[in-house]
Formats: sequence, C-alpha cells, structure tokens
Amino acid sequence: MRFDLVVRGGRVVSPGTARVTDIGVRDGQISVLGDLSGVDSARTIDAAGLTVFSGGVDPHTHIRWPFLDATSHDDFRTASIAAFHGGTTSVVDWALPADRSALAGVRRRQNEATGDGVLVDFALHCVLGPDLARGYDEVPDVVEQGCPTFKCYLTYRRRGLLTDDAKLVRALRAVAAAGGIVGVHAENPALHETTEAELRAAGKQDAMHFRAAKDNLVEAEAIHRAIFLAEQAGAPLMIQHVSTREGVELVRTARRRGLPVFAETCPHYLVLTDEVYEGPLGRRYLCSPPIKSTEDQEALWAGLADGTISIVGADHCAFTVAQKEAPASAFDAPNGLPGVETRLPLLYSHGVAAGRLSEARFSEVIAENPARVAGIHSRKGILAVGADADLVIIDPAARRTITATRLHQDTDWTPYEGVEVRGWPKYTIRRGEVVIDDGRYVEPADTGQFLAGMPHGFDTVR
Ligand code: URP
Ligand code: ZN
Ligand code: ZN
Repeated sequence: MRFDLVVRGGRVVSPGTARVTDIGVRDGQISVLGDLSGVDSARTIDAAGLTVFSGGVDPHTHIRWPFLDATSHDDFRTASIAAFHGGTTSVVDWALPADRSALAGVRRRQNEATGDGVLVDFALHCVLGPDLARGYDEVPDVVEQGCPTFKCYLTYRRRGLLTDDAKLVRALRAVAAAGGIVGVHAENPALHETTEAELRAAGKQDAMHFRAAKDNLVEAEAIHRAIFLAEQAGAPLMIQHVSTREGVELVRTARRRGLPVFAETCPHYLVLTDEVYEGPLGRRYLCSPPIKSTEDQEALWAGLADGTISIVGADHCAFTVAQKEAPASAFDAPNGLPGVETRLPLLYSHGVAAGRLSEARFSEVIAENPARVAGIHSRKGILAVGADADLVIIDPAARRTITATRLHQDTDWTPYEGVEVRGWPKYTIRRGEVVIDDGRYVEPADTGQFLAGMPHGFDTVR
C-alpha cells in the first residue's frame, strides 16, 4: 500500500489517547494511525520529538469585514496563509445579510471567499440582522445551504445590527426548529451607550474610556438575559467571546442545570489584561467586548479547563494601526484584533506548556469542539481514520518572541508584540498537502473548500 504522506514517530494526540505512532495519508484523508515501518510513501515527515494535533479550526474570523467606515485589511487568501503559519487549517467566518436577506448574504460571502482565492477550508456562520425582509422564515433555507450556526448581535446599534429581545426570542425559536444554534454577542447597549454619552460629553474619549463604558455588568446582564430567553424558547445557545468572570459563572450555572448553553472565549482575554488601554498604544486594542482584568482572565482559564467554555476563537479582525487611529474619538474607532495566526500557538504556550490545559483539552477547544458546533465534525477537528488529513505538527521545544514583522496577517501590528511563547507549528498539513513545511509556506495545488455544516444535536460538544 503506497501512501501520499507518512508522518512518522510523532506524539499523536487523538480523542482519548496520546501516543507515539505513525500517520498514513492517502487522497487527502487519514487512512492509517499506527505502525507504518517499511511502507512506501511519496513523502515522509520525521516527527520524532514533535507533537501532532488535528489542524486548528478557528470558529471566529472576520476577514475583510466592515466596521462603520472601515473595512479590515486582509482577504481570504492572505488570512489563509496566516492561518496556515499558525497551524489552523479551517476557519468559520461570518456572513452579513445582503439586500435584507440572510440567505443572499451567505451566498455572497461564499463568493467573496472563493473570489479572494481562499486556501483554508471554510464554513460560515449566518448573521441574523434585525431587518430581514422575510424575518426568520429564511432560517431553514440557510441551514439547508450549509450554515446551521447563526449570530444575533445584542449591541452595535449604530451599525444597524442590534437585535432586540423580541427578535432574539423569534430567532432562537426559528433556529432551534431548524436544528441550528444561535450565538450572541452579549453586551447590554443601554448600559454602555449611557456611559459612553456621558464620557463623550465630558471630553473623555480615549481607549481607557471605551473600556470604562463597557464594564463587567454590560456583558454579564446580556449573558444572563440571553440564557433566560434561550431556556424559555427551548433553544440551544452559544455565548461568543466571553470576557468576564461573571459570564463564566452564568454559563457554568446554566450548564450544571443541564441547559444546552455553550461558550467561546478568545486569546486576547486569556493572555492580555485591560492595562493595554492605558498606554500610548491603547487605541489599537479596542475590541468588543473589551479586554478585562487579571481576575477575569483567571476565571476564563478555569472555565476552559473545567468544560464551562468549549471553544477558543480568534475573533480575528485585522485592522491596521492607521485604521485604528484615524477617528478622533476611541468610541468611533473600528473594533477588533488580528489573531488567526497566533490563536493556536498562544493557546499551546499559555495553556499546555504553562500547565493550564492538557493536550487533549487543548485539542478539543482549538479544533474538535469548534468543528462540532459548526456541524463539520465528520471531516474536521479530530485526528482519526477517515477524517480529512488536516494536521498541525508542533515543536514543543521551540521558543519564539511574537513580533508583527514575523507574522503573515495582512496588517502592521499584533496585540502580542514581545510575548514569548513555548512551542510553535513546524508543519501544517491541509487535506494531505504540506502547506507549512518546516516553517516555510508552500502554495497548495487546491483551493480551500466550502464546508457545509450539518444540523445536529450539540450533546457531543464538551
Ligand atoms: O471587536 C470585535 N469583536 N470585532 C470583531 C468584529 C465585530 O463586528 O464585532
Ligand atoms: Zn461579536
Ligand atoms: Zn466577532
């Protein structure tokens, strides 16, 4: 039996086990996990001393994304190359409505990705805007199109995205009936807009004031309300980008009560604290929800380890320094941080290498659970025979100081400038093609594929 690729002698982390073994790849899929001594292969990678995980599935990217007057700087091709360098082989991006149609928005976004020359495999979440011509009647068609995951923004009034409680309940019911899940951006607009207006009137419009307007109550109230409404609607719920200790506790309580409530957090909430808003570079770090305190950070790590938080998404949104600094007021600056390339290395370093997460839990939160939530887990997110041969091979002995000049995200800064990490991807393999080869990018022969998510129960998300 001849293989296209054999990965030999790595420490292989697959569901329920971690062992030194070989991986045989044929026709883009994992065909054997086990001893492959003496077999014939077109290419062999010696993975002795290295750790092999399923390729990262980033459940939260905003590539080429509009925010008021700005559009983030990258496209699906440049973001793909950055993702590969960071060990991520699939992303789930967001589709905004087009012409007041959620379905048209999904189709437009698919075309944008392929038109850009996407290289990672990609799925899409559907943003359910508050002003859809057919309301939520389109939801079954969107699920049929391969998008069982939706998002309602509980804030962003000025961007025309705010979904009120009545619409949220309708969205929760419609999506649950179609077998999907609603995710929420949970911030209470009345709370932060009132403080923002007062701060603006007082001439306080720096990054630290943006942070002050969005204190922990802003997120906690919205999470509390969303969980209550989802329970009343009999619907599953995903809380995106949880940033507060109160949010972790609300999700923990809901899950202990057996509710199908899931949570995501992001590397910036796990690695940085709100001190970033105090310095001269504070403007760059504006994101929603804003980065919080050390106590919040500790609660998020605990929540990841104990199963309260199931996934880690980059919430990648690559604005440049100039874009961030252009508006006179921090309240008008584009929100979002670049991070598709650094998500997996940061989680490995600050999670596994630092002793906060087991290798198995790391793999679950960066690949397996994101794939399960998106309904693409028949192909993605686990290292098993029959799955796509998406692998990241990490050198645990590597040490790197993150700096923007060594990254490939199409922007001129990183929130993690100067952060030291232990471990870094040495090889990334997407459907059997070695796209990062000993640290160097190699153009794949094949473009990225659209991954149609299947509606499913969420009982396998841990
Ligand atoms: O600040 C954030 N989370 N930016 C991502 C894009 C968006 O629209 O929220
Ligand atoms: Zn959001
Ligand atoms: Zn986002």
